[in-house]
Amino acid sequence: MLKKTVEVALNDQLNSEFYSAYLYMSMAGYFEHLSLPGFSNWMKVQYQEENSHTMKFFRYINERGGKVVLKGVNAPPSSWKSPLNAFEETLKHEEEVTENINELLDIAMKEKDHATTNFLQWYIKEQVEEEANVSNIIAKLKMIQGSNESLFLLDKDLAQRVFVDTTMGGTP
Ligand code: FEO
Repeated sequence: MLKKTVEVALNDQLNSEFYSAYLYMSMAGYFEHLSLPGFSNWMKVQYQEENSHTMKFFRYINERGGKVVLKGVNAPPSSWKSPLNAFEETLKHEEEVTENINELLDIAMKEKDHATTNFLQWYIKEQVEEEANVSNIIAKLKMIQGSNESLFLLDKDLAQRVFVDTTMGGTP
């Protein structure tokens, strides 16, 4: 059975994963509007990943006898200054998520909830991957420096991304 403090913190993070999904769907719309379907595809896959993160919390809370409590989701921004700016904001957002996951882990450890501590390791690893993926695209966008031809090639590259649900296994 989950302690109340842990249950509340897990629910907070579940709800926050919904915001992440919402943010990336908004970015997918922004890139679609810029006629960059590959960038939009990357964000749509990111949206699916965030939904899978939400569902992993959903399953875990229920498995431990807790109750899922949904909250309202804030409206995300709908436009950014440039593709680079959108990815910089993505990195900033993911760094905040990493901090939140670390705080959640601190709560589980303080409550000596070893099962939740173990469960959260998946998210700790996932955040390393998320930040690295976004940083890699930011580096490429900086190299491009406004070249439309290079942007077109990167768009084709990002169109290849496909969603793979890694939340059921042990590693991201
Ligand atoms: Fe759910 Fe992008 O971390």
